[in-house]
Amino acid sequence: MLGPGRFGTPLHFFETVDSTQSVALDLAKRGCPEGTLVVADEQSEGMGRMGRTWHSARGMGLWLSLVLRPHISPSEGGLLAAWAGLAVLKALDTGGGSWARLKWPNDVLVNSRKLCGILVNAKSVGEVIKYAVVGLGMNVNHDGCDFPSDIASTATSLRMARGQISDRAVLLGEVVREMEHTYHKALSNDGRESIVADAQRASVLMGKEITVKSHTSSLSGIATRLDADGALVVVDPRTGCEGRILTGDVEMVRVREEEQ
Ligand code: BTN
Repeated sequence: MLGPGRFGTPLHFFETVDSTQSVALDLAKRGCPEGTLVVADEQSEGMGRMGRTWHSARGMGLWLSLVLRPHISPSEGGLLAAWAGLAVLKALDTGGGSWARLKWPNDVLVNSRKLCGILVNAKSVGEVIKYAVVGLGMNVNHDGCDFPSDIASTATSLRMARGQISDRAVLLGEVVREMEHTYHKALSNDGRESIVADAQRASVLMGKEITVKSHTSSLSGIATRLDADGALVVVDPRTGCEGRILTGDVEMVRVREEEQ
């Protein structure tokens, strides 16, 4: 399903593994080629963002990690999540439209519920990214009752959204081929602008009142735009002052009823 491209060569498949992300990070550290792909049917210790665990039951989802050696500076690392999120939208053939949307910085949502999470871990030396691993977890064939209770009201799956089971191998091919197809352009000098513009267009946050929390700070206001490096710009409606944040967790304070 992967075709002849470089992404997916080599491919490491596990029926069960602790985390495809840890395996891929280890391979990357030992010098594996760009495009190395790690896929599992089940993860026992799937890693989410901000130290959370990622529910990765057997036979249910797409759990993959892709090793990259991108020619961008560490401060532009946020572009990788935007690029990966857009590749997922394209692979699902939503055209960035209303069916699935991006929630900055790393989520793909359907009907305000999380379909897919993206985790980017990068190792830089000075101003050079030595490697980055893009981990993608997509809920595919879950029914509502397959999610643990802590995420049951916020998660969704392709099956719940489309009403049918998907072939995960076909989906894997579509997602990875789309990533490969757009990768070089996305990170070229010209391509970066359109990645940011497309991610902004596909975002559920723009114009919304939000609070973004990171490990070190918290920022509230109206989500206004994405900057060229993928940072989110939030404007304080009382003072008009702009704040920028590179990553964090977003809470939507007020979502208009028709958009829920
Ligand atoms: C998030 O918190 O939203 C990001 C979740 C990323 C999960 C994927 S599943 C494949 C890869 N391996 C992991 O351990 N995590 C990522």
